[in-house]
Amino acid sequence: MWPGIIEKAKEGGLDVIETYVFWNYHEPVKGQYYFEGRFDLVKFVKTVQDAGLFVHLRIGPYACAEWNYGGFPLWLHFIPGIQFRTTNGPFQAEMELFLAKIVDLMKEENLFATQGGPIILAQVENEYGNVEWAYGVGGELYVKWAAQTALNFNISVPWVMCSQEDAPDPIINTCNGFYCDTFVPNSPSKPKMWTEDYTGWFLSFGYPVPYRPVEDLAFAVARFFQKGGTFHNYYMYFGGTNFGRTAGGPLVATSYDYDAPIDEYGFIRQPKWGHLRDLHMAIKQCEEYLVNGDQTHQSLGINLEADIYHRTANNCAAFLANYGSSLDANVTFNGKVYFLPAWSVSILPDCKTVSFNTAKVAGKKSVGDSTISPSASVSELSLSNSPWSWYLEKVGIWSNDSLTANNLLEQINTTKDTSDFLWYTTSIEADEKKDAFLLIESLGHAALVFLNKKVLAFGYGYHDDASFNISEKISLEQGNNTLDIISMIIGVQNYGPWFDIMGAGLYTVILADLKNVKKDYSSNEWTYQVGTEGESLGLDRTDLANSSLWTQGSSIPINQSLIWYKSTFVAPDGKGPLSLNLASMGKGQAWVNGQSIGRYWSTYLSPKTGCTDKCDYRGSYDAQKCQKKCGQPAQILYHVPRTWVHSGENLLVLHEELGGDPSKISVMTRTEQVVCSHVSEYDSIPVDLWKPNSDSSSQTPEVQLTCDQGWKIASVHFASFGNPKGDCGMFAQGSCHADVSSAVEQACIGKQKCSVPVSAAKFGNPCPGVVKSLAVEALCSA
Ligand code: GAL
Repeated sequence: MWPGIIEKAKEGGLDVIETYVFWNYHEPVKGQYYFEGRFDLVKFVKTVQDAGLFVHLRIGPYACAEWNYGGFPLWLHFIPGIQFRTTNGPFQAEMELFLAKIVDLMKEENLFATQGGPIILAQVENEYGNVEWAYGVGGELYVKWAAQTALNFNISVPWVMCSQEDAPDPIINTCNGFYCDTFVPNSPSKPKMWTEDYTGWFLSFGYPVPYRPVEDLAFAVARFFQKGGTFHNYYMYFGGTNFGRTAGGPLVATSYDYDAPIDEYGFIRQPKWGHLRDLHMAIKQCEEYLVNGDQTHQSLGINLEADIYHRTANNCAAFLANYGSSLDANVTFNGKVYFLPAWSVSILPDCKTVSFNTAKVAGKKSVGDSTISPSASVSELSLSNSPWSWYLEKVGIWSNDSLTANNLLEQINTTKDTSDFLWYTTSIEADEKKDAFLLIESLGHAALVFLNKKVLAFGYGYHDDASFNISEKISLEQGNNTLDIISMIIGVQNYGPWFDIMGAGLYTVILADLKNVKKDYSSNEWTYQVGTEGESLGLDRTDLANSSLWTQGSSIPINQSLIWYKSTFVAPDGKGPLSLNLASMGKGQAWVNGQSIGRYWSTYLSPKTGCTDKCDYRGSYDAQKCQKKCGQPAQILYHVPRTWVHSGENLLVLHEELGGDPSKISVMTRTEQVVCSHVSEYDSIPVDLWKPNSDSSSQTPEVQLTCDQGWKIASVHFASFGNPKGDCGMFAQGSCHADVSSAVEQACIGKQKCSVPVSAAKFGNPCPGVVKSLAVEALCSA
């Protein structure tokens, strides 16, 4: 998918692609490197170069990025005496080796800019400044060491350290955040750079879906350039999917969509993508002045200001800002009046004409209405009649390579993250049949408890705190009772001071009788088993699809814990990406043709409150400000790249941990895409005081429709010039209406994109004296 996505980024006006480098996938075993398939870093950098774009290579090697263990390989943790990210010999030796490995690889392939390659910038460490306090003097020295180590590689392009106020010269300290206009680098010789501007936020299981209105995002970007910013990077412009067990933790979801301008599936997200493209164009129109001009500042009133970049007195570009969050304003600049909506910036590349205003999203009309995204029509294939097979896993210890200990073991040190699962098994003797209370305390992230091989309880934490307790009334049989607990990790911790030694798994198990007399079972004899039986059998593998391990039959067990399901499906026609709808399932992992498409957890609903479908973009944004899907699963759709399926039967395998109904799974693909635009006569560019019927020199506003690359406009559903009502997907005629379908069809059918002027001169005037708008809804198909 890389070339297509990079092409869309380029079309969106980007000229640099920034990427992390994930150490744990490039060196899965110490000294054994891996750069194949989707981890082929050289190929990625060259693909960007082929598209004519530059690269910012964030080597780290700490990445964070909601990626498993922040990008560190687990083996690193087991090097004797190691302490991560501080002055520590064993760690520094390994970090230096990996940095050198990546730098050498790039040099050998001539990929640095001075060698004719696309890499113009590189990053060492990542936001260490946020956690440095926790490492004391060792941390301060580590920053100096990391900087010097990077510089010693002589890569001939600048290094940056993000969120690192004490980045030693000449390493450039850069800003990460929702806004960076007030950021000042730690030396006047360093440019003002923004390495992470969040286009939305990441998703965790059990949380609502965050989104960031494009008006606010555009405002943040424009303010940054208004205030002397240079390099700016979206995090994420395309976030994609954390396939397999690559998602970090705790409890980070599989989708890394991030509300980014290119969505998880590689489709452009409108109006975000288009609005930012127009913003980039407007900023580039000012480039000459921003790069060579002198900056002056002018107050235009309360919360109102202009920054002007001039080459000579009358030769300039200007940014006019209204950074108040509620009051729109008319400002006078250079003798002309300009309308500035609250929380917006107008860009005037010639100091006179507004070429862009951040709050004025083409095709959108009212404040707070931030989600006119094109809806997709999908073809959905139900798997209810598919041939299902299953395998019921053994509960508890399933092999003789288990281990025993007289205490509760920490999970990650025990599994080395070779599996999400660790079985904790012990026995409880009862002198008679009786009731009792069982109390379990866990560092995280989830655990399913079985008493005498029957499901007893399930407990789980959440992203911000993965620890949890389970307390449950139980009935013990006389004699020996078996307690089997499967403790689960959902992504190894990726952020925070000393995150690398954050533990997981059980730490207390107590039994209390009905008089509350307690017995601590934590130091009982426990038997441990890493992983589940199905994992060790390799049930996800394609070569086991016909194995007799699988049971076939007409009535598949549903709502069953620790079960594997298998079926086949024929992929719906088309070239587009696929997704699996796993809403009917509990918690687990899914594979298509042996490729893990990630962890799912459909039964973990987000809190019922805290969401808003109409988020007012005005005022400071934070990750909790705009959320949707409250009271619902974080994610039910799971991306299956088209290249992972073939014609004929494809194998689907699921490992269900809690209980679900696989017959309700469906496979979806997008066959058509609805695109809309609704633009008023007032929406002229420039946005100065336009008056109807005046002989203004302003350009005529346009309705613009853009289909995804490779898709074309196939039909026009609705096209009304007058006062049409409603939103995309539900437009309706108003009291004033001229059906202009045929004119729109003429301009658009068969094209990937088209624009139609919104003007009475073109369409005739159905209601003179009334301000009219043009609403269009069309269908793109592949
Ligand atoms: C930053 C970090 C990124 C990513 C982001 C949240 O702190 O540098 O890697 O984790 O937060 O998505």
